[in-house]
Amino acid sequence: MSDKSADLRLLLQRAIKAQIDLGMDELILTPIKESAPPRPDVVADKWPTDETKAPEVMMETPPLTQFETLEDHRLAICDCQKCSLGASRNKFVYGVGNTQADLMFIGEAPGADEDRIGEPFVGRAGQLLDRILAAIELSRQEVYIANILKCRPPGNRDPQPDEMELCFGYLHEQVRLIKPKLICALGRIAAQALLKTTTPLGKLRSRWHEFSGVPTLVTYHPAALLRFASYKRDTWEDMKLLKARYESMK
Ligand code: URA
Ligand code: URA
Repeated sequence: MSDKSADLRLLLQRAIKAQIDLGMDELILTPIKESAPPRPDVVADKWPTDETKAPEVMMETPPLTQFETLEDHRLAICDCQKCSLGASRNKFVYGVGNTQADLMFIGEAPGADEDRIGEPFVGRAGQLLDRILAAIELSRQEVYIANILKCRPPGNRDPQPDEMELCFGYLHEQVRLIKPKLICALGRIAAQALLKTTTPLGKLRSRWHEFSGVPTLVTYHPAALLRFASYKRDTWEDMKLLKARYESMK
């Protein structure tokens, strides 16, 4: 066998094993496409986006300042002390990935590893997220990953409503600057915060919603998959939905 086909075989074996590890029993095979034409610029929505939503939406703090680039934004907010997590954090965890990503993943808040390193989803849940991305032929470099909260809640407790409220403008500005075409919310906390709802995750997943004018899908948090393997099947269904819409937009 030539070197090239041996490499290919190894790659395929790894990809298939990764999907089996994730509890998946079908393969996603995407046809190779010509490179996509440059996308037209998406017009950012004004905040709030939907006046028919619950009244608390209207109380959200709008982003006070609009920035030219993500890096300008990060530099302006990375010393934030608006809530008490500013005092206890190690590192401010802004976000990571392609600043012009078409697809953005939004999690809950940094954990211990993220707080130490300053990057979202680098711990065990993050490694599983990487495998989920690989299973739909995506990488951290291609997408953008951020959290609702930029600082770690002590002992990984749930984010408090006031913390999310104070931090939310930052995420909103990130979405305005990145202009993703699709968003995937990871877990209940992120999903409910983005969609301004108290509906349980199981009822939100597997269909499209909207955040800030961007089609938004909701699925289980990778940390939940580590604890409850039975969520893997549904997560895989959600990832297939996400991948299909992502491909259809190219
Ligand atoms: N869980 C999250 O929601 N976000 C992270 O960055 C890490 C774990
Ligand atoms: N419950 C949660 O809060 N998150 C999940 O991802 C799954 C169940």
